[in-house]
Amino acid sequence: MKQHTSESLRELYLNFFKDRGHKVIPSASLIPENDPTVLFTTAGMHPLVPYLLGEKHPAGTRLTDVQKCVRTGDIDDVGDAGHCTFFEMLGNWSLGDYFKEEMIPWSYEFLTNDAYLGIPSDKIAVTVFEGDDTLPCDNEAAQLWEKAGIKKENIYFMSRENNWWGPAGLTGPCGTDTEMFIIRKEKCSPTCNPDCKCGAFLEIWNDVFMRFNKTAEGTFEELSQKNVDTGMGLERALCVLNGKASVYETDLFENAIKAISALTGKAYDENEETMRAFRVILDHTRTATFMIGDEKGITPSNTDQGYILRRIIRRAVRYGRKIDLPEGSLAKIAETYVEKYKNVYPELEINKNKISEELTKEEAKFNKTLQQGLKEFEKCINGLERKNAFMSQKDPAYVPEKVIGGKQAFHLYDTYGFPVEITDEMAKERGYGVDMAGYKAAFEEHQSKSKAGSEQKFACGLADNKEATTKLHTATHLLHAALKKVLSPDVNQKGSNITEERLRFDFNYPQPMTAEQIKAVEDMVNEVIKQNLPVVMKEVSLEEAKAEGFTGLFESKYGERVKTYTIGDFSKEICGGPHAESTGVLGEFKIQKEQSCASGVRRIKAVLK
Ligand code: GLY
Repeated sequence: MKQHTSESLRELYLNFFKDRGHKVIPSASLIPENDPTVLFTTAGMHPLVPYLLGEKHPAGTRLTDVQKCVRTGDIDDVGDAGHCTFFEMLGNWSLGDYFKEEMIPWSYEFLTNDAYLGIPSDKIAVTVFEGDDTLPCDNEAAQLWEKAGIKKENIYFMSRENNWWGPAGLTGPCGTDTEMFIIRKEKCSPTCNPDCKCGAFLEIWNDVFMRFNKTAEGTFEELSQKNVDTGMGLERALCVLNGKASVYETDLFENAIKAISALTGKAYDENEETMRAFRVILDHTRTATFMIGDEKGITPSNTDQGYILRRIIRRAVRYGRKIDLPEGSLAKIAETYVEKYKNVYPELEINKNKISEELTKEEAKFNKTLQQGLKEFEKCINGLERKNAFMSQKDPAYVPEKVIGGKQAFHLYDTYGFPVEITDEMAKERGYGVDMAGYKAAFEEHQSKSKAGSEQKFACGLADNKEATTKLHTATHLLHAALKKVLSPDVNQKGSNITEERLRFDFNYPQPMTAEQIKAVEDMVNEVIKQNLPVVMKEVSLEEAKAEGFTGLFESKYGERVKTYTIGDFSKEICGGPHAESTGVLGEFKIQKEQSCASGVRRIKAVLK
């Protein structure tokens, strides 16, 4: 089979769909826009949810992209051959445009035609939905595959467990799918199928036929339009197409591996333990590079995205110790990623100094307490071992205690900077665990004592188009405009997060706002609400938006046509929507909290009453 590089595969894919009427749209930020329930963009569809639900996309109804994604559910599994916390998803989208009849022949053509992937047709297997109590069997998809040229015996009918995709979180667009596999070797038994873990079938792509929206109540509503969402994970596709044993052996990691070898004098495949350490460092440093270098920039902290970033950097440092990686290495490894990816993600080049500084700072910070923390950890384990030995002697029926107490785990976090997940992983390596509920209780007790308020850190799910969030979204634009008028025109959005109850808005400003400034902003927003100004949407080119003075991340990446929202003379922003129709419906705007969020960044929480 043809060999591919990350560069050639991205290009091949995007061009294939461009030639079929698709607009290439840039990757969105790793931080989802206006999504109350997830910390990161976890799938290609994520930034497109409003459009899959029926909003009009400024670039049309046929889109293709390569989206940067982060999934953090399996951090502890990173180190094996397949898990990555960062990945790129190649995708194409029909927003109420084409459906199965077009998509399946295109998939076949891209997979088999020599101008594209050139995989022999008899080396491809596909799965389709077999049907259940609520939905019929997808015979249509099966027939389309057969007509395209897939052998009948390579078409597998499978259950909802295998052939249903989405939503990306708890709610949102979803539907049945058809999945494509490369047949790598003989089946291990007559009943072997693409779900078998024997390695005969390796997944490469999926086409989701999105016809439903999963609601917060767990029901499925039929969408107003039939969408297609396809997903080809770049790392995995490269690995499968090039016949590599692991994603870390693709060209994406080549220079980073060389850098780690040069820094440690060790080879990637020296032995299993070294390989695991390499992979953890490779993955976590790459993810950290993309997080810090993101257009919405994340920095290590103790909450939300910043906490995940801190956790992965610290996990990389811990694994670095296993292979004698000297302090300061993460920034050097990150440089190789900036070089490798800068043409696709120019934000990495723009933020390259920041990436280096933040990595170096965080590494040094953890190194200061790491030694002491490891000693403290040993004390916990030794204490338990002594107690278990003593008690077992006294009572042969005694069941040894194998769990580090929550308070001790919290002490390791609070004093030595050990994220509890790292403590848990270290404990597991020794045959122990951590009392997570006890840790949470200790953490919460500390939080309520320090009145820091509690944030839901690891929530997951997708935003929906609820009226309350729409109103808060419009209120966010008013707040942004008011801050510019009251504080300084240089104030800009650094982050935004909306739940049904409140909005949260981060912006650059060097000092706390005074009570007078807070009041002035509130009054200004409430005055605009009272005026009941219409919220007007217009689609224009990015250039026009810029010339007309709309607020937005211009140096960043929008499609060529953008949606602009104007609220009287008060606010002009580029934004994907959705918004309230006029300001009169918003109610009373109240700022509940103004606090520091990161260095030079303030955070406002506000509600509509
Ligand atoms: N097409 C859905 C996904 O793989 O992300």
